[in-house]
Amino acid sequence: MSLAFRKNHSHLSSENLVEWSDELSVGISEIDEQHKYLILLLNKLNEAVTQEKDILLAEDIMHRLSEATKKHFIIEESLMRILEYPGYEAHKAHHRQVIKELQSLRDRMHDGQYPFDEESMKFLKTWLTTHIAEEDKPSTSFCIKRGVKNVLKQTTWLNRIWDANHS
Ligand SMILES: [Fe+2]
Repeated sequence: MSLAFRKNHSHLSSENLVEWSDELSVGISEIDEQHKYLILLLNKLNEAVTQEKDILLAEDIMHRLSEATKKHFIIEESLMRILEYPGYEAHKAHHRQVIKELQSLRDRMHDGQYPFDEESMKFLKTWLTTHIAEEDKPSTSFCIKRGVKNVLKQTTWLNRIWDANHS
């Protein structure tokens, strides 16, 4: 398993795969904080793969990325549903697709296949940046118009759900 894990990624850079910038901000701090955490995990995963760290470590990061993504999506969907975002169903379908892809990567890794070739890492980078820039920005700007405030308080229901299992 470890031999398979080591091949085919000498072309990958151990630098951050995705850098957070203000351009990625959706204007709602709580959501931004969640996106930053997903980016952090993705960069940790990239580092583990490119530096040939133990596959168990990479699997653990992949697990955390997957679970945090699911929780993030539940929070976003709840917000969109409550505020009656017209693109709710399409956005939810996008979420389902991403969860399926992440699960497929996890399954392949668990089966001892090597999932993190260049294409797989590109997929992870693309889904995260596309998710934020193309899917979240329209829905969050709708939520802001509906009165969602750009504040970051630990006591909000969004943060309580987010913090419940992954601190
Ligand atoms: Fe998001």
